[in-house]
Amino acid sequence: MAERGLFITFEGIDGAGKSTQARRLAETLREAGFEVVLTREPGGSVGAEAIRTLLVEGAAARWSAETEILLFTAARRDHVEKMIAPALDAGHIVICDRFTDSTRVYQGLARGALQGLVDGLHAQFIGLEPALTFLLDMAPEDALARGAARGGREDRYESMGAAFQTRLRAGFHALARAAPGRFRLVDAARDPEAVAAEIAAETRTLLA
Ligand code: TMP
Repeated sequence: MAERGLFITFEGIDGAGKSTQARRLAETLREAGFEVVLTREPGGSVGAEAIRTLLVEGAAARWSAETEILLFTAARRDHVEKMIAPALDAGHIVICDRFTDSTRVYQGLARGALQGLVDGLHAQFIGLEPALTFLLDMAPEDALARGAARGGREDRYESMGAAFQTRLRAGFHALARAAPGRFRLVDAARDPEAVAAEIAAETRTLLA
């Protein structure tokens, strides 16, 4: 897959503020004159949004971890084919709210020892890593409180509880330690303005 643009992702546990910060970075970069595609996973393309509904709504026990990995990978493949790869080929900046690191942690680690399966499918069907990944870090109790305040029906993972979110946080930290060149650990418990400023500065450094 030829890549001319820049691929940036946001990761973290539920309620850490990724969507807000991804949107703010997109606005900052657009104001600076860059072509930016802001997208999210699961979803981001018509087919992947249909799969999203299957994944984020309903009972926690609805899918096994293995089935989820296949559904997330199918959604991601469609998203990469239809949206991400064409935008990168056109030289745009793509900002994605979650990507494969979420599957590595949510399905690969927190729901079972399935990282080999996630990485194997990623290598075979996706084969794309971000240049930069912002890991928005926050205590699970604070993040869950934020998520609950937001409301909505998309709470399947939030409903798995605080212990699950604690495992997720540890999993994200392990990924960040293993790929320090790509990850930036951001303290997301601070004022959103300060978080946005740090993220914008890191991105400017990479663009320069
Ligand atoms: P969102 O709330 O960030 O939009 O994500 C929806 C839920 O899907 C969230 O609880 C995390 C979960 N998820 C996974 O379990 N694995 C994945 O690969 C992705 C992209 C999301």
